[in-house]
Amino acid sequence: MVKVTFVSSKGTRREVEVAEGETAREAALFNDVPGIDGDCGGVCACATCHVHVDPAWIDKVGRLADDSMESDLLQFAEGTSEYSRLACQIPIMPELDGLVLHVPEQQY
Ligand code: FES
Repeated sequence: MVKVTFVSSKGTRREVEVAEGETAREAALFNDVPGIDGDCGGVCACATCHVHVDPAWIDKVGRLADDSMESDLLQFAEGTSEYSRLACQIPIMPELDGLVLHVPEQQY
């Protein structure tokens, strides 16, 4: 299992354990982490799983690729940053043990 910490917009930290190969979206939804909706089922079609990767982790997770479906979708998300990613596009692998993701105040 891999540990992932979600930090709410108010600073509340919630550490969950995720099976390798699940996505950060699944990590949030399976553990009732508030603020991640993931309405499209994780197929990169809604942008309601927006998170800000903690700066300390962005190189391991990888930055948003230009000219990607994920990039196109995030144009419609509120309050994006250089650390924005869609949680459904972040597969959780052992090297991400301890990953910290910041949940935006709202998804719409
Ligand atoms: S769950 Fe819809 S884009 Fe991630």
